Amino acid sequence: METTRRTFRVKRKDIHYIRTTLESYDGMAVVGTRDPYRALVEVCFAPGCETQVMNLIRDLKRTEGLSIKEESRKGPPVDREEAGRPRFAVLTMGCQMNVYDSDYASRCLIRAGYAPASDPEDAKVLVVNTCSVREKAEHKAFSTLGRMAALKRRDPTRVLVFAGCVAQQEGEALLKRFPEVDIVLGTRRIPHIAELVNRVREKRERVASVELESAGLLRALSGDHYFSGRVQGSITIMQGCNNFCSYCIVPYVRGREQSRSPVQVVAEAEDLLEQGVREIMLLGQNVNSYFWDEGPGGPVDFSALLRLLDDLPGLARLRFTTSHPKDLSDALIRCFHELGHLCGHIHLPFQAGSDRILKRMNRRYTREHYLDRIRLLREARPDVAVTADVMVGFPGETRKDFEETLDLVRTVRFDSLYSFKYSDRKGTAAAAFDEKVDEQEKRARLMELQALQHSITLEKNQALEGREVEVLVEGASKKGEQLTGRTECNKVVNFVCNSCKIGDIVKVRISKGYAHSLQAVDLTDSEGAHMDHAHYG
Ligand code: 5AD
Ligand code: SF4
Repeated sequence: METTRRTFRVKRKDIHYIRTTLESYDGMAVVGTRDPYRALVEVCFAPGCETQVMNLIRDLKRTEGLSIKEESRKGPPVDREEAGRPRFAVLTMGCQMNVYDSDYASRCLIRAGYAPASDPEDAKVLVVNTCSVREKAEHKAFSTLGRMAALKRRDPTRVLVFAGCVAQQEGEALLKRFPEVDIVLGTRRIPHIAELVNRVREKRERVASVELESAGLLRALSGDHYFSGRVQGSITIMQGCNNFCSYCIVPYVRGREQSRSPVQVVAEAEDLLEQGVREIMLLGQNVNSYFWDEGPGGPVDFSALLRLLDDLPGLARLRFTTSHPKDLSDALIRCFHELGHLCGHIHLPFQAGSDRILKRMNRRYTREHYLDRIRLLREARPDVAVTADVMVGFPGETRKDFEETLDLVRTVRFDSLYSFKYSDRKGTAAAAFDEKVDEQEKRARLMELQALQHSITLEKNQALEGREVEVLVEGASKKGEQLTGRTECNKVVNFVCNSCKIGDIVKVRISKGYAHSLQAVDLTDSEGAHMDHAHYG
């Protein structure tokens, strides 16, 4: 049966309320956030319910004075509250910490009176937040900068901000190289974005702000409803990295490790939960070395921080990334057994399966130590999903070393794997190593490794067929015909459900395992727990 969908622009602070109100009419509508940034929500009407739900929307507008405007195909409606405000657009590359930084930058700009643009073409302030982890990422940063510089040339009153890891790495030299760039903004200078943008707009002076160590800690932002309507939210709990793995640029572009206070982290978590977020992801380059000892309550390490957050009212799921195998403590492993909301998934990069290569990488653990940690994790939580990062073609990696990587993959049987070809990064120790592996050989090794992992992922997903799992509902599936969500183990599940709402945790039965997702049948509907409406999609 056909399902109708319509998109509305609302006020960000109202998303949660509108969703709860419309979804409380048993199964008539599911409200998804299409673009939390622009406060666009998509209402998916159950067949035959469109008129009733549109009446409800009209009532919300009339009696409660909410702003709910339908997006017309002819172009976005003018939002009176936002009209006249200068607009900004942030383009983000790289890891989840960069996504967090981009959100932080957006919130700072919104506080300073700017409004998000739906398209960089409409923006007066353009922010490119970059990644330099591999050569390919750096190329992408400069090609995006090229496109934004063209926009700036068309309208020189625009402010162009080049931010993130490439900005940190290249520093002030970028101002000379790219005359269109107004602000080079280092990774620790994100909280200063609004004052710098204002300064450029007033005085037209160009700046490079790239101090690393002198920067203050991130302050918890709250009260702006930025995350309203989102199911997941992230919190950076520590910045920087002290490990100096020989291939890695991160310590150079993100500075030394600095933990945020537990008070700040808890305040940020409470704010996310108040906005309706159900799942919190804690972020850091090496979360296991989180440490804070300045409070009256005594020192707080990572497992103590997890325990503080696990009990927060409203929290459905807690996750974290990334752990370093050398610092994965027994206390953390115990958390997987003891904490009710900590998801059964760990991302534990191993990078290489050969002790000789691990040593050259300066990883400071052995293959045996890694396998032992996995064994203990699986003892503490038998169903724990394990994912990892791995590299092929590190300088000096022989066929025999590579086979040890393949063997480790076969032994652990990861749920999924992020695999990369080693890429020289200027200034790192490995860039100066000899015995570089040639590009063609790296490509062949990567393909061999990915083929192996593909068959393992598929087998593991197929083994779930018939199993009951709990899914946190995130929204409409990619093709829009079903709902989608994730299991605790972070696997994507698509299913049809009449009564399920975004943000619910629902029980489903896996009917088919694919390499990248699972198909499931909802069990609440089939057990008649909620409703008798016709199916969506
Ligand atoms: N070349 C290739 N991959 C890299 N990574 C980090 N540095 C490099 C590099 N120089 C990979 C690691 C890391 C992930 C985020 O990126 O596997 O865990
Ligand atoms: Fe890229 Fe690393 Fe910077 Fe994240 S921290 S954006 S992965 S270089």
